[in-house]
Amino acid sequence: MPRTRDGVRGAVITGWGCAVGNRRVTNHDLEQTLDTSDTWIVERTGISERQVGGSTAELSIRSGQAALEMSGLDPASIDALVLSTTTPDRVVPATSATVQAGLGLQCGAFDVNAACSGWVYGLVNAHGLVAMGAERILLIGTDTLTRITDWSDRNTAVLFGDGSGAVVLEAVDGAGQMLAWDLDADGTAEELLFADIGGFVQMSGKEVFRRAVRIMVDSARKSIAHAGIDIEEVALVVPHQANKRIIEAATKQLGIPLDKSSVVLQRTGNTSSASIPLALVDALDNGRVKMGDLVLFVGFGAGMTAASAVIRWGATS
Ligand code: COA
Repeated sequence: MPRTRDGVRGAVITGWGCAVGNRRVTNHDLEQTLDTSDTWIVERTGISERQVGGSTAELSIRSGQAALEMSGLDPASIDALVLSTTTPDRVVPATSATVQAGLGLQCGAFDVNAACSGWVYGLVNAHGLVAMGAERILLIGTDTLTRITDWSDRNTAVLFGDGSGAVVLEAVDGAGQMLAWDLDADGTAEELLFADIGGFVQMSGKEVFRRAVRIMVDSARKSIAHAGIDIEEVALVVPHQANKRIIEAATKQLGIPLDKSSVVLQRTGNTSSASIPLALVDALDNGRVKMGDLVLFVGFGAGMTAASAVIRWGATS
């Protein structure tokens, strides 16, 4: 599918914010209840601690509020709320409805569920809305995976945390920041990673790991090719934060030095839809992104989805 920017009205990110669960759970805490160790978890995943707690709506309202405040926009001026989540608070209505009310928005609101790739799916959707005339979008990625985690299962309990990351996108006159994107899915792999309604996350960890590296690399390469840039030009990679070894393997195959990646999983765990925006906000808050920098987002998740996008930070034309 071509990803041409010709004649497309674009957007830039003008505000951001994040929120995490309010209870810190360290690997040492998990050692008390599980047959595991801090050494194993750190060596195999890179995770040292995670923040747990809150509902998807609560965390979304906190991160969304921060992003709106930074952008200086009146909540009533937002044209659409896109909430990426795989852990909605209710089956109906969409959690975005609760968040819309909580933030005092007066606009359409919908949830996107593409598992851990969801925030990038939402980013692409948000740019599509801008291309069709929307002026201001609030995009939030939030998950509370610890609510669907079996805390007695060491295969999954050591991995997840709760969090939310939000950005405000505003339309610009030119083509804006988005250079290229790629969205993929392979539903035949559904049984590798799933949770039934009311059930816990079930996962074939090794196979998910193997495929994750492959599909992240494939998707990133497609976006880079569509963007017409060289991989060396990427200033920052913001990958899904599932496992440090996955990020190391994927960036190595892509030929991008690891120190160009934003990695926060050591203190957040895997926060699914929130992981990419949390890593983006961390990079922004630490001054790692300059005007004109090329930023590559790349994620993977259940389904098995993969998604990537290349943006030029702050670009209006
Ligand atoms: N603590 C201690 N030992 C553990 C453990 C834990 N939490 N979990 C598994 N083990 C043990 C296994 O039982 C196995 O023991 P054995 O060798 O005696 O059989 C050994 O550690 C190795 O297990 P394995 O599953 O091969 O480890 P791994 O290196 O593949 O790491 C994951 C496991 C889950 C960390 C890794 O596969 C992974 O991150 N997969 C991707 C998961 C993911 O990203 N999910 C979310 C997608 S969005």
